[in-house]
Amino acid sequence: MEKQWHDQIRKEILGLDLKVPLCDGTRRPYLNLDNAATTPPLVAVVQAIQSFLPWYSSVHRGFGYKSQLSTAVYQEARRLVLDFFAAPAQQYIALFVKNTSEALNKLAKRLDLGAGEVLTTWMEHHSNDLPWRLKNQTQHLELTAEGCLDLADLETKLKKARPRIKLVTVCGASNVTGIVNPLQTIAELAHHYGAQIAVDAAQLAPHHPLKIQSSGAEHLDYLCLSGHKIYAPFGSGVLIGPHETFRVGTPDQVGGGTVIAVSREEVVFAPPPDRDEVGTPNPIGAVALAAALRWLAKNDLPRLAAYEAELSEYAFDRLKTIPGLILYGPPPQHYPRIGVIAFNLEGFPHGLVAAFLAFEAGIGVRHGCFCARPYVHHLLGLSKAEIVSYENLAKAGKKCLLPGMVRISFGFYNTKSEFDLLVDALRTLQSEEEKIKNRYRIDPVTGEYLPKAGNFKDALMRHTKTFFNF
Ligand code: ALA
Repeated sequence: MEKQWHDQIRKEILGLDLKVPLCDGTRRPYLNLDNAATTPPLVAVVQAIQSFLPWYSSVHRGFGYKSQLSTAVYQEARRLVLDFFAAPAQQYIALFVKNTSEALNKLAKRLDLGAGEVLTTWMEHHSNDLPWRLKNQTQHLELTAEGCLDLADLETKLKKARPRIKLVTVCGASNVTGIVNPLQTIAELAHHYGAQIAVDAAQLAPHHPLKIQSSGAEHLDYLCLSGHKIYAPFGSGVLIGPHETFRVGTPDQVGGGTVIAVSREEVVFAPPPDRDEVGTPNPIGAVALAAALRWLAKNDLPRLAAYEAELSEYAFDRLKTIPGLILYGPPPQHYPRIGVIAFNLEGFPHGLVAAFLAFEAGIGVRHGCFCARPYVHHLLGLSKAEIVSYENLAKAGKKCLLPGMVRISFGFYNTKSEFDLLVDALRTLQSEEEKIKNRYRIDPVTGEYLPKAGNFKDALMRHTKTFFNF
């Protein structure tokens, strides 16, 4: 029954049957274990776009039928997004943006915190750290040795800085360890000490039900996510927040669509959402995002989440059995995590592991610091001096020597037998260490490991050109 269900679910993802070239000249079905970076599109999303495309026209900028329809479709997508996250439309507005990074930059620029401070954490993706560091006085919530948020530190910081901390901003789940943060507790504490809470839901929302408001639960104030991480890679993400925030102040980007009146003397900005959506909107991206959310709601997101949780526990347990494999963060049996697992293999640079998996096993993973350097430094246990010396290497362009990890990340369509292929590949890497290491050279500029034999980059370029051969 479960297998039948899952076989059907896999058919809902585009491109799972594609084979990719390996460095020995053969081809293998591509195994995507990099869903934290981006997910493949749902067939339902592509179909929604295909049915809308013939009707596509300018949103808010024309009076023809297609223009009016496109505007209505765009607004309906906005409504569906709010609905999915249980955000009442009377209180909250959903702004379409490119992605989570843009959403957090916008929020940082648009929130008027006066002389107030922001409390972010050392677990964040750079996108939920740097916009705040550059704008407000920012504090960072400390981590436990295992890499979880230190909730005692949260209360200490909120209490000590009361009432200066106006916003606590935190990821729903880490893009490095998949750790799911206790949002309810954090929201309660933040509100108790007079701060709002913003959630970077880029990693959590695709893998876990999430509500802005629900009875008996503490509400969230801001939430943002990317379409491309939730099976809708068509250029839209969303920032949800209270109307009041976006009703006042100067938009972060100004121009067409953001105003209701402009004279030689005066500029009058539009109410939300227009005030914060500069230029011609992207209804294709909005349709894609709303269609993906609809699909997840209709296909039992809690069941998909439970499936992913079981897969992650299986994966964690199997990885533990590989000698010399170092895992980061607490096991999913001890702390809630989504299916994101970072590791290192003793004796192998992380870049080499990723290259071997790509070129000899057809497995896609990510390696490095995942745009979360302070968090990765903490997990690796680097000293201040080591961090500085790595910074100096980076400044000198020596990317090949930088620290990092290998990361696998699941989508609901991945299977245990797919994951077993990864374990087999890692075992091969260990048992044929010298032979395999000899097959690679490192590009001194990019730091990438590439096979010595053949010319992978040329073959890649030939493939690239096929998409433009009309
Ligand atoms: N933020 C994305 C990742 O973690 C790109 O890979």
